[in-house]
Amino acid sequence: MRVLGFSEGYHDAAVAVLHNDEILFAGHSERFSKKKNDKNICNELSKYVQGRYTGGLLPPRIAFYERPFIKRTRQIWAGQWKKGFERRRLSYKYDYCFAHHLSHAAAAFQCSPFTDAVALIVDAIGEWDTVSSWRCSYDKNGDAQYVKLDSIRYPTSLGLFYSAITDRIGLKPMEEEYITMGMAAFGRPKLKLYNDMKELLAHKNLHRGMRRELPKETNVNIAYNAQSLTEGVLRGFVNKLTKYGRPIVYGGGVALNSVANGKLFKKIDHYIFPNPGDAGSALGAAALVTKKQIKTDHMFHGYHLPLLSVGQIKEVVDILQAGEAVGIAAGKAEFGPRALGNRSLLCDPRTKKNKDMVNKIKKRQLYRPFAPSILKEHADAYFEITSKCDYSYMQYVVPTKTRDFIATRHVDKSARVHTVSDDLNEVSSLRSILECWYERTGCPTLLNTSLNIRGKPMVNDEKDVNAFEEEYGVKVFCNG
Ligand SMILES: [Fe+2]
Repeated sequence: MRVLGFSEGYHDAAVAVLHNDEILFAGHSERFSKKKNDKNICNELSKYVQGRYTGGLLPPRIAFYERPFIKRTRQIWAGQWKKGFERRRLSYKYDYCFAHHLSHAAAAFQCSPFTDAVALIVDAIGEWDTVSSWRCSYDKNGDAQYVKLDSIRYPTSLGLFYSAITDRIGLKPMEEEYITMGMAAFGRPKLKLYNDMKELLAHKNLHRGMRRELPKETNVNIAYNAQSLTEGVLRGFVNKLTKYGRPIVYGGGVALNSVANGKLFKKIDHYIFPNPGDAGSALGAAALVTKKQIKTDHMFHGYHLPLLSVGQIKEVVDILQAGEAVGIAAGKAEFGPRALGNRSLLCDPRTKKNKDMVNKIKKRQLYRPFAPSILKEHADAYFEITSKCDYSYMQYVVPTKTRDFIATRHVDKSARVHTVSDDLNEVSSLRSILECWYERTGCPTLLNTSLNIRGKPMVNDEKDVNAFEEEYGVKVFCNG
């Protein structure tokens, strides 16, 4: 059975194509339209998918990641009249519409290695649910089954709280939460501020922000205390679910909080879906139709570019050894917000000046640290990692053991470590680059950041490669 999953209409639209238990394609609209967080499925993405992935004897079934009419009841209740009564095409083009949190849960469970689990979903808002938990299992036919255990409903929302904080400190809500998270490491605990936030989270509808409600405070302290409160609340959710004695699968936009993830899941059997925001629910919606456990050894499912040749890999390492940054656009694009080596900008992580160099290229805020990509077998020597976490998707911030990779070490001595295993050679060139780099330098790590022009989505195709090279004068290797 071939199924198309759609997530669109709010922010960061995406399409996923499933054929039984196999992901044929999964990609973000923004990478094709070049409009950051494009909320609609653009023509370029539709064209790329149609024909290439939708073939077969029967027309594909189409699944949508939420229930638009139920969402409208919430919008009308919340006084968002314009959105609630907007004249726009609704669900008629979809064969199925699934509950927003159920789509998150399906992506997390059916991509996980578990056959019996509880799902924890935490986001800003779906239709009405903002937090939910689900019992997930497969029946004797191997079809996924979901039973809802519990939920918290709008307007109480941890995700909306974090976005309101992001807005309060002058950043873009629903987009720049990761900067708030990075900024938190620079702040200090403030008891009154923390308690005021706790009160707001429990009793106030934060959908329209909290600009006036909080006392005057520095942005870094606001970020620190908001992060700390978020971690505390999440710990409560996780502890409650451990009572079921099953692994936890975790999704929803709040699961992108890699600082919280690093602290909460050290000792727990779990799986965090690598694309846990709404874009990832395109895959979740399709999975609810196929019902099968999905084969997922990686998250490279987008626009296809060939891998690099052996000669190109050597050239890449030559440039890295000369102390320069170098771009890679090879293999299928990442499905998810992190560059995992197929659309990445790399450089030597051992000197501080390289951090400044990449910051200059990317013109980004000092608050946001860069990630280290490391040969998996070396990770334990440099980072405090645990066997309970899979570090292949940059989902956990962990303490560093050494100062060796100073350009990827945050102010609190942590790093969002990315391990690269040797089974990725068929889908990514990063492992070969790291191996060659290690052979020549004895360093198993590279600084890895996403390959994008500031304010634009990640590089997708050959045209973007040229645009990036022209804009920054940085060589990008692409075998297209
Ligand atoms: Fe969501």
